[in-house]
Amino acid sequence: MAQQILMLPGDGIGPEVTKQAEKILAWLSENSDTVFEVSEALIGGAAYDAYGTPWPEETAAACRKADAILLGAVGGPKWESLDISVRPERGLLAVRKELGLFANLRPAMVFDELADASTLKREVVAGLDIMIVRELTGGIYFGEPKGIENLPDGTQKGYNTLVYTTPEIERIARVAFDLAAKRDGRVCSVDKANVLVSTELWRNTVERIQRDEFPKIELSHMYVDNAAMQLVRNPKQFDVMVTTNMFGDILSDCAAMLTGSLGMLPSASLGAADSDVCNALYEPVHGSAPDIAGQDKANPIATILSLAMMLRYSFGMAVEADALEAAIRAVLVQGLRTGDIMQEGASLIGTEAMGNAVLDALVEAYALAKAA
Ligand code: IPM
Ligand code: MG
Repeated sequence: MAQQILMLPGDGIGPEVTKQAEKILAWLSENSDTVFEVSEALIGGAAYDAYGTPWPEETAAACRKADAILLGAVGGPKWESLDISVRPERGLLAVRKELGLFANLRPAMVFDELADASTLKREVVAGLDIMIVRELTGGIYFGEPKGIENLPDGTQKGYNTLVYTTPEIERIARVAFDLAAKRDGRVCSVDKANVLVSTELWRNTVERIQRDEFPKIELSHMYVDNAAMQLVRNPKQFDVMVTTNMFGDILSDCAAMLTGSLGMLPSASLGAADSDVCNALYEPVHGSAPDIAGQDKANPIATILSLAMMLRYSFGMAVEADALEAAIRAVLVQGLRTGDIMQEGASLIGTEAMGNAVLDALVEAYALAKAA
C-alpha cells in the first residue's frame, strides 16, 4: 500500500530543500519495500499569493488526508507588511493547531565532523545528543484573550495569555518520558514557575506524571533563564528537555547553534496516535532564509534529517532512517559542505549537489545496512 506524502515547500529556500528530500523519497520508493506517492500543496506566502490566504482550504484538506507531511519553510520580507492574520506564519500555526500536532521533537545532535563549525568550543559540543520536546498547540501562542485594545487616554494595550490545562501538560509530559525511556532515561522540564503560575501547574503536573507513570525516569526542573545559560555552558548535561511552546521556540534555536548551523536541525510535530486526521508533520527548524533563496546555497541536511525522522516515526522504517543518517555522516566525512557549515579545507557545494551526494551515499549505506 502506498504512503501518501504531502509536500508543503512554502517560501524562500523551502522549495529547494524539500526538492532534495523528494529525490530521496523517489529513490526509496523504487528501492525499499515501501512505495511513496508524493503530492504538493501551497502554504504561507506562496499560498497567500495564489489564494489570498496562507492556509487555503485546499491545503487543509490535503493535509488532513496525508499519511505524513514534509514542510520547507514559510515567510519572507515580501509579506512582512501584511496584517498579522494573513502573514505566512499563520499557515504554519494553523496546520499545527488544526491537525492537533501538540508534540514538537527537536533533536540537536552534533556530527563529529562539524564539532568545529559550532561557535562553541569543540569539547563543549562534541558528541552532543539532546532532544527538545516543545509543546506546540497551546501556551501563549494560542491563549485567549489576546489582542490590541484602545484605551481611553489614547494609548493602546497589547496582550496575550499564557494558558495550559492539565490534559495538555500531561500528554506532552508523557511524550517526553516515553522518549527518555528509549534514550538515557532523563528528563529536564523547563518552566518559569518562580514567576508564572501557569507554569507552576506545568511543574506540578509533570512531576505527578513522572511519579505515577514513569518512576524509572529521572526528572529534574529548571527555570528557563538558567536553561538557556546551561545550554551554552554545558549542553551535554541534558538528555530530554520538555517545555512550553514559547520557551521551546527560543531554546531550540539556541540548541540548533550548538550543532554548528540552523541548517542541521530537523523536527517532527506529532499528534495523538489515534488521530483521525494526519498526525505527523516534519520540517527543518530553520526558516525561509530569503537572503539566499533561489541561489542553490541552502543546506538541505535539516530537511533530509526531517525525512529520516518521518521514516522512523511515521513508517517504522528504522533501517532506512539509519541508512539516511549514515549517508549524511558519510558526505560530511567526504568534506562536502554548504556555505553555512563551510570549513577550511572542505569543498563548498550547493543545495542540489548536497542532495545528490546524500543520495549517492544512501545507495551505498542502504546496501550495507541490508547486507548486515
Ligand atoms: C519555529 C518558528 C515558528 C514558531 C514561527 C515561524 C511561527 O520560529 O517553528 O520555531 O514560532 O513556532
Ligand atoms: Mg522558532
